[in-house]
Amino acid sequence: MKVENYLQSIEQMDSYKRLGKIQRVIGLMIESQGPEASIGDVCYIHPNGLNKKKIPAEVVGFNNEKLLLMPYDSLKDVAPGCLVEATGQPLTIKVGRGLIGKVIDSLGKPLDGSPLPKGLTSYPSEQNPPNPLDRPVIKDQISTGVKSIDTLLTVGKGQRVGIFAGSGVGKSTLLGMIARNSNADINIIALIGERGREVKEFVQNDLGPEGLERSIVVVATSDQPALMRMKGAYTATALSEYFRDAGYSVNLMMDSVTRVAMAQREIGLAAGEPPTTKGYTPSVFAILPKLLERTGLNEKGSITAFYTVLVDGDDFNEPIADTTRGILDGHFILDRKLAEQGRFPAINVLKSVSRVMPQLVSGGHLSLATRTRSLLATYEENQELIQIGAYKRGTSREIDEAISFNSRIIQFLKQGTNEQVSDGEALKQLENLGL
Ligand SMILES: Nc1ncnc2c1ncn2[C@@H]1O[C@H](COP(=O)(O)OP(=O)(O)OP(=O)(O)O)[C@@H](O)[C@H]1O
Ligand SMILES: [Mg+2]
Repeated sequence: MKVENYLQSIEQMDSYKRLGKIQRVIGLMIESQGPEASIGDVCYIHPNGLNKKKIPAEVVGFNNEKLLLMPYDSLKDVAPGCLVEATGQPLTIKVGRGLIGKVIDSLGKPLDGSPLPKGLTSYPSEQNPPNPLDRPVIKDQISTGVKSIDTLLTVGKGQRVGIFAGSGVGKSTLLGMIARNSNADINIIALIGERGREVKEFVQNDLGPEGLERSIVVVATSDQPALMRMKGAYTATALSEYFRDAGYSVNLMMDSVTRVAMAQREIGLAAGEPPTTKGYTPSVFAILPKLLERTGLNEKGSITAFYTVLVDGDDFNEPIADTTRGILDGHFILDRKLAEQGRFPAINVLKSVSRVMPQLVSGGHLSLATRTRSLLATYEENQELIQIGAYKRGTSREIDEAISFNSRIIQFLKQGTNEQVSDGEALKQLENLGL
């Protein structure tokens, strides 16, 4: 950098420090008198004692003249009267190609404590969704490398899909498969609210070295403050936006949106919002569409997004599941019954929908998919009769066909974790079943 640049920076520098004082801490919420700051701004709390690290916090509301702040970190050594310093800026993270292959936290720092690579640029973590009129129409297929998805639930570049499932039905495994095998340029994977143990398991087993090589993993585990979990979702989305605007085809995978909503619920309740359905506060339902609408296509690149949604006891009408299903362009339902039978990936094809599939695939592909679905549906409708032997062959041609093709279709839909199949190959396999 030239000397003039330094001089210019000094001229533009704001040499005043805006400070306030902590007056009260209740649970997660800090009340302070001053400094001058607006909602979303980052402030630093100076704990008591020498050489103590400043604690970053964010302004989430105000009460009369007092600021309400939430910390990004635990409130160790904070006492009445501690100073609060305003930065006058919302949260920014460092982004760039140097982060590829790294596991980072919600503030963009490598989790293994290593220094950030050189050449990164600052980027705001919170942005507005693109103008709806500037969004191109989704028209190109993306290959996920998962046979059942590529043939029967085709996903488009820039589509946003919800993966709805209970616990232990194969969400992480499925995301890992897509990360390793899809033809996107880069994966941004947000692990929000997971147990610490699961993070390592995911990175080592599900993603593996070849998956990590083309991914950035953002982690906010369940023990972190609610604000960090919330920011994890923003950071991962911002990273995806950065790469999309650089012309990449990005896969964003967020596991799970439900935990993001729960973090926002914690923040909302602490800030004094009233609880509504299932204790979720109104801000949860305001923030979800804003977050999920940030992904998708723009004229430069694409973010294809996979958001997992936890469904307790397979209750798909739970408020978060219901809201996200309404926002996204498709939902894949992982079925515990299929997982119990060892039919992995446990996607219940009949209950799942890809809303943009008809505009992506050829007429022949679409009619083959419809035919496969109808055979599966016919078998399922008559399953009990067939299994107790009450159905006599020859009664209905449709049911006869459904019976004879059923095991072949099921065999086709099964896919081992390490089985790599391109979209073209998968379609060929389906065609060769001779349905
Ligand atoms: N394609 C597959 N082939 C074989 N087994 C699979 C497959 N997918 C998932 N499984 C099995 O299902 C188990 C649970 O999978 P996974 O950990 O991905 O579920 P999850 O929904 O992420 O669970 P949690 O809710 O605990 O995060 C795995 O340990 C694995 O044995
Ligand atoms: Mg998991």
